[in-house]
Amino acid sequence: MNVLILGSGGREHALAWKLSQSPLMSQLFIAPGNGGTGALGTNINIQVGDFDSIKTFVLENQIEMVVVGPEDPLVNGIHDFFLENDSIKHVHVIGPQKEGAQLEGSKEYSKNFMNRHDIPTAAYQGFTAENIEEGYSFLDSLSAPYVLKADGLAAGKGVLILDNLEEAKVELRNMLESRKFGDASDKVVIEEFLNGIELSVFVLTDGKGYKILPSAKDYKRIGEGDTGLNTGGMGAVSPVPFLDAELSEKIEERIVIPSVEGLAEEGIPFKGFLFIGLMIVDNEPFVIEYNVRLGDPETEVVLPRIKSDLLETFKQVGEGTLDNEPLEIIEESATTIMLVAGGYPGSYQKGKEITGADNGGESIVFHAGTKADNGSLVTNGGRIIAITSLGKNHSEALEKSYKVASTINFEAKYFRKDIGFDL
Ligand code: AMP
Ligand code: GLY
Repeated sequence: MNVLILGSGGREHALAWKLSQSPLMSQLFIAPGNGGTGALGTNINIQVGDFDSIKTFVLENQIEMVVVGPEDPLVNGIHDFFLENDSIKHVHVIGPQKEGAQLEGSKEYSKNFMNRHDIPTAAYQGFTAENIEEGYSFLDSLSAPYVLKADGLAAGKGVLILDNLEEAKVELRNMLESRKFGDASDKVVIEEFLNGIELSVFVLTDGKGYKILPSAKDYKRIGEGDTGLNTGGMGAVSPVPFLDAELSEKIEERIVIPSVEGLAEEGIPFKGFLFIGLMIVDNEPFVIEYNVRLGDPETEVVLPRIKSDLLETFKQVGEGTLDNEPLEIIEESATTIMLVAGGYPGSYQKGKEITGADNGGESIVFHAGTKADNGSLVTNGGRIIAITSLGKNHSEALEKSYKVASTINFEAKYFRKDIGFDL
């Protein structure tokens, strides 16, 4: 089968790595890809939002499956676009249609969905500039810290957590009236603060059957000890040690099953990933957010722990024949550490030469912000390379990743040396 992966991050490199191992794979293309994906398939210079060029490419290259990495094209309806075009509607698109993608595209939509299906989540209310006064009153009724979320997509930056009531009111005004996050904050969800530990669960579904992937925890802050600014993710571990059988069962019964069944009951087609961000409070799971894609860098630790043929599983998703048999999992621990450009998540430079990226040994070097440039490899983003290793336990796996990290170099390289420190 000819497959096109859309995206250019470490997540897409990990997908390319895993899917290219399948005996079902014929030709693999990645649009636009990065400096690493070109070794596993062919990089195509098409942006993920350029649906017309994607269509032309799909037709010219007999693509039978499109795997959508990031959320934007899903929220913008790429799957619907395929279904609405007779010449490409037979192509399997892995990623939900526009309506299902609203679970990520609108916080209020997702909270309302959770409420309709009794899925545990923080108490909340949604506000617009018209009823901002009610928003202030709602804040008065809560206790600190205050959680303010831009309703729409804000590139992972739309959540503010504030300790002070007055500051929370100022930020609510900034979001609704000064349009702090543009259209994304035309509506704001204010919710109860949940104090607990986070973990992520990934579910692959065709709208009826589902499979739960290995769990993961990512480390979002730039600084060691979870300090400093939020990033896309500085590292991840899988499995999450505190996720025991009892908690797994609660998550499946109270959250995964009602989510998949809720979509089906409401007639919302959904072929793709549901990434459920959870807060565990006193051993009880609450949903913090849904995403409709895989996480990055979680994918870089989750996929290397899957033994099953993921392309075959994707094919079942496309055909609507996904069964509920569990995936075959590798029982080792996986950790990934992200090498980033100095300055990230603030401003940083691009175009710096990278050396040693082939030094992975038994670890896996997933490229993120890299590109091939006249025979050399250069930095092309904030997050540059994710190094994933497997081991008996997290510390053994980490040790291996750190060894490789010391041999991959570029100017102003930075990485966290404490991934998994809290486990
Ligand atoms: P989100 O973009 O919804 O994942 O939120 C970003 C981060 O804010 C999450 O990863 C949590 O650390 C935190 N967060 C979001 N909602 C809550 C909440 N209700 N209580 C506590 N922390 C939260
Ligand atoms: N690492 C978090 C995300 O992909 O949303």
